[in-house]
Parts: sequence; C-alpha cells; structure tokens
Amino acid sequence: MTQSPGQGQALDNLLTESRTFPPSDDFAAQANAKPDLYEEAKADREAFWAKQAERLHWDTKWTQVLDWSDAPFAKWFVGGKLNVAYNCVDRHVESGHGEQVAIHWEGEPGDSRAITYAELQREVSKAANALTSLGIGAEDRVAIYMPMVPEAIFAMLACARLGAMHSVVFGGFSAEALRTRIEDSECKLVITTDGQYRRGNPAPLKPSVDEAVAGAPSVEKVLVVKRTNTEVAWTDKDVWWHELVDSQSDQHTPEAFDSEHPLFILYTSGTTGKPKGILHTSGGYLTQASYTHYNVFDLKSDTDVYWCTADIGWVTGHSYIVYGPLSNRVTQVVYEGTPNTPHEGRHWEIVQKYGVSIYYTAPTLIRTFMKWGADIPAKYDLSSLRVLGSVGEPINPEAWIWYRENVGGGQAPIVDTWWQTETGAIMISPLPGVVSTKPGSAQRPLPGIGAKVVNDEGVEVPHGGGGYLVLDEPWPSMLRGIWGDEERYKDTYWSRFAEQGFYFAGDGAKYDDDGDIWLLGRVDDVMNVSGHRISTTEVESALVSHPTVAEAAVVGASDATTGQGIVAFVILRGGAGDEAGGAEAIKALRDHVAKEIGPIAKPRQIMVVPELPKTRSGKIMRRLLRDVAENRAVGDVTTLADSSVMDLISAGLQSGKSED
Ligand code: PRX
Repeated sequence: MTQSPGQGQALDNLLTESRTFPPSDDFAAQANAKPDLYEEAKADREAFWAKQAERLHWDTKWTQVLDWSDAPFAKWFVGGKLNVAYNCVDRHVESGHGEQVAIHWEGEPGDSRAITYAELQREVSKAANALTSLGIGAEDRVAIYMPMVPEAIFAMLACARLGAMHSVVFGGFSAEALRTRIEDSECKLVITTDGQYRRGNPAPLKPSVDEAVAGAPSVEKVLVVKRTNTEVAWTDKDVWWHELVDSQSDQHTPEAFDSEHPLFILYTSGTTGKPKGILHTSGGYLTQASYTHYNVFDLKSDTDVYWCTADIGWVTGHSYIVYGPLSNRVTQVVYEGTPNTPHEGRHWEIVQKYGVSIYYTAPTLIRTFMKWGADIPAKYDLSSLRVLGSVGEPINPEAWIWYRENVGGGQAPIVDTWWQTETGAIMISPLPGVVSTKPGSAQRPLPGIGAKVVNDEGVEVPHGGGGYLVLDEPWPSMLRGIWGDEERYKDTYWSRFAEQGFYFAGDGAKYDDDGDIWLLGRVDDVMNVSGHRISTTEVESALVSHPTVAEAAVVGASDATTGQGIVAFVILRGGAGDEAGGAEAIKALRDHVAKEIGPIAKPRQIMVVPELPKTRSGKIMRRLLRDVAENRAVGDVTTLADSSVMDLISAGLQSGKSED
C-alpha cells in the first residue's frame, strides 16, 4: 500500500527553509571535485565512468563499459578482471604506504590498536589462508555476525580476496534473524565473536550463533574471535580464530576475478516479512564506492583522518568503512562502542584524540547529541573537522544547523547523502566544494547519476512539485538482483515504472524552486527507525507469532529522535485472558519482537484494540492508525468497512497504552 508523498514534517521544512551555505573560497579551491565534474559526466556518461574505473587496479582491462541489453540486469566493465581486496590493501603497500595507518581502532572499554596497511595485508592474507583451509572458495557464502572489531574487516576482505561472498548480519539481530539469513543464502561458514561490549559490559554473542546454526544445516564451521573472554559453549563445528588464523602464513597471492563476480549479499527489509538478499558484484561496485568516497568527502589520503560511525552490519559500513575508504588509502577511525560509553562526549573525545577531519553519521545520532546538549561537544577541540556527512534518513534543518554550528565550527560543509542498500553507493548529495548546501536537502544527483522526481504516470514533476524518486539510468554500483529471487527483483524495483524503465526507489521526494531534491521518506510499508529499515510486515509477523495475539497492524509514527518509532496495534486472542492486555504482558510482547527480529525492531508502543480499521476489501488502513499513533485527529474514514471502528479504537486506547 502506498501513502501519498509530500505529507509530514519534511514538507513543512521545505516551505520554511531558504538558507544556503556556499563553500568557502579556500575549501572550493582545494576540493577534489570541481564544477567541471558535472560537465564531464554530462558530455559522455560512459566515458566518465570508464575514467572513474581507472581509479582501481585491473588485472585485465574491460572491453565494454556497460552492457544493459539484459535490463534490469546490468553488467559493468565487461570483461575486466580485478581483485577487490588487492585494491583495498596490497596496492597501497606496493606503492610505498605500508607504514600508513589504515585503521585507528578504538575499543569500547578504552583499548586501542593502530593497524597499518602492511599489517592489514598480513592479517587479511592470514585470514584468507585460514578460510581456504576451512574449504571456502570462490562463490561460497560466509556469514559474518560480529561487533565492530578489526577482525570483522579482516574477514570481509579475506572473503573478497578469495572471491567468496560475505553476508554480514548486524550483531544486534536475533538468533532467528541470523538463522533465516544463513539459510536463505546457504552459508557454509559463520564468523563471530564470543561476546561484544555493550554500554560498558560484555554481552554474549555466540549463543545466538549456536541457536541459529542448530537450525541451519548448510553451516560446516564457525570461526570464533575471542573479544570479551566470555565463557562459551563449544561444538565440534567451532574453531577459535586465534588458533587457526594466527598460525597461517601471512603471504597470500590474490586471484583476479571477473568484474561481475559476486562480492557480497546484504539483507534488507522490504515490504513483505522476508528480508531481501541484495546482491552486489565487484568492479562496478568498487568503482562507485571509491569515486563517491573521494569526491563527496573530499578525501585527501595523506592528511585526512576519516570516521564513519556506521556499523559494518549495514550498507554504510560496507561502502564507507570498508570498500570506498580502503580503496582510497584512507586513514580512518573505527569505534567499537556506543556514543555514550562511558560518557556522552565519547565521540568528541575520539575526534580530538585522532584529529578526525571527516565525520559521517546519521541524523538520529545528531538529534541525540542535540538532546544531550551543545555544552558536551564544546568541551573538546573539534577544530580538525572540515567535512561532515549525514545518511540514512532525511535530516531536519534544525539538526543540520546544530551539526554545522556545534560540530563543524560553523564552517564545515555538510553533505547529506541519499542512497540505499540497493544502490550500493551514494547517488544524491552535494559536492562539498561546488554546491551551496541547503539544510535538509540532498540536493542533486552526483555526476554520472540519473535521478528524477516523477508523478504517478512517470512524468517528471516541475520545480516546486512532489512525487516519487526514480533513478533513470543504470549506475555501476547498482544491485544485480535479489539472492535467489529474480522475479522479486523485477517486481520490487522495476515494475512500478516499467514502461519508462525507471528504478523505483520507494521514496517520496520533491523539487524546490531551484530544482534541488528533498527526500520525504518512504512511500511503502517500510519504516525508518534510527536510519534502519524495518518492514511493518516483519514486525506484524513477529507479533502474531506470539500465542496471545490474534491480529496486528504496525505503523511508523514520527519520532523526535529516531525519525520514526514503531507503534503496534494488536487484537488479542479470545482466550488470552485479562492479563494479556496488562503492562507486564505488553512488555512481554515487546520483548518477543526483540527476540524474533532484534532489539531495533522493538515497538515503541503497543496498543491493544478491539478491532482494526479495514477497507471493504480487507486492507488495513494504516493511514488512520498513523493518525492515532501521532495523536492527530483521525482523517477520512468513509472507505472503512465499519466506520465506528475508529471510535472503538480511540475509546480503548487509554487502558492498553504502554510506553517506556
Ligand atoms: O528512505 C531512504 C532513507 O533510507 C533508505 C535506504 O535505507 P538503507 O538501504 O538501509 O540504507 C541506508 C544507508 C544508505 C532510503 O530509501 N535514506 C537514506 N539516506 C537518506 C535517506 N532519506 C533521506 N535522506 C537521506 N540522506
């Protein structure tokens, strides 16, 4: 079901926000990307992308830039061969930068580790040799379920080096979520840790793996990094990382793979209960990750210290911690923990400690920093920061301005970067040395990228008009499909505007009078909670899997900190008993969702209702539930099968409300 785009807060922002911030002359003069980048891409798109691909080392050069004859299945840099890990590690050592720090790793308890490119090469080689000894070869799938420890990055690169595909599953997901992802892509190996630090305390992680693996027969081995020294149960599939990897040779010769060789699968929520395994391949993906990282963040390999605060469990961690930055010979900070451990200034302390110059984070965290107060960043020396980035959801102008003033010293350009797991890399963003930024707008497609806002008929809307965001040209880092489900790939992204051949992103968007793009949130049943995509259907399935629940409807309600919060309406089963609607029982339901999916999917609020608003054809009218969840007057109810339902719901709410 779709809701009309152009509603909600983002639109209000659009109407009132008219400030623009041009880059300083100094910044513009030293920027990697100059205005002619747009011209160049426009003159000859394929030649432009061919030039960007030259950023990489190819063992065999391609013969064709793009083959779109089998659309929507693209092939980029056809005939080319490269090794992705070689491009991210070895070539920097060979060019004389082995002593440059690749990763300043900062553990949550305060331990730290500086890893040079030479050391990274040795670690990745050892890990690749270890994986080979476990029988992992090209195209095998490896699940990585780990906190933000260096070994997680070594593991990803070791897979890439061998041509094996990694499927990183966020460490906050449940055993069940891990199991379904392992099963869908039939992973042979799982790499994990004994435990992970969470808010200052070690929490076990391996028990979830044990539970998942018990129900996933494809898994032959589990490789376990010791991180927290937590005691763990041991099975005959388990192997310690320090025993196996550390005893391997640190020499490994990478093999070149086809440009379209699969690199990874990353699961993301769609509009059904089953997560989609988004498939990315090698040459095109790395080209765009590298190009965007260099130009959007203005990276200077010799002087910048870059920090992307994402987790490798999400696509931002793949493209802007691992592949883009390392391909560009970055020096970067990787932080293991939460931003308020042990205190609310932790991020700023880290910025000060390492002299971070480029900082990339999510609006939800910026709003959290705002809540904690401007006096906290003010205590630290943040003068090294020169570029700030935002990703994951629309950033409200208030947060944008706060970020610029209190983190960026009133000077640093902010790049608001729009993209998706599916797009693989940034698609819409200002170039920091070229574009005058506007608080709240992602502004314009990057050079080489085609994006438009269109109406229901697929016709581009005029300036000032709203509609759907589409991508009207194939791009190098585009997904190559959904693992094991060609039809779903075509249906989800290419059927809505099939006639025009547009990729439908699922986002509402609007042009302002200058033609800049403003993102307005999802138009499908996907919620965005703290920048993470969660499908309403997935949460509904989790709720109805609980014995007391007969029916459930879930909506994303706007939330001042997390962007959207999950609000669930449930009808209890007849025999569930009176206690089933009580505070304890509602807490149990919320915990049940956390167990089924993961704590990020825990509803903010669960309301017990006697009925759900449905159309005559039985479709739940989420729009009305959203009105209730956001404490608004309930909208038009004329299409309801029974228009008294909303009165019943409103009357019953006081008793069933639970929030914490
Ligand atoms: O709705 C858009 C929102 O996040 C969705 C993609 O989520 P995911 O695949 O998890 O990737 C997040 C990190 C790239 C999009 O469909 N989104 C992402 N970035 C922005 C955004 N919405 C507005 N502004 C952004 N900068």
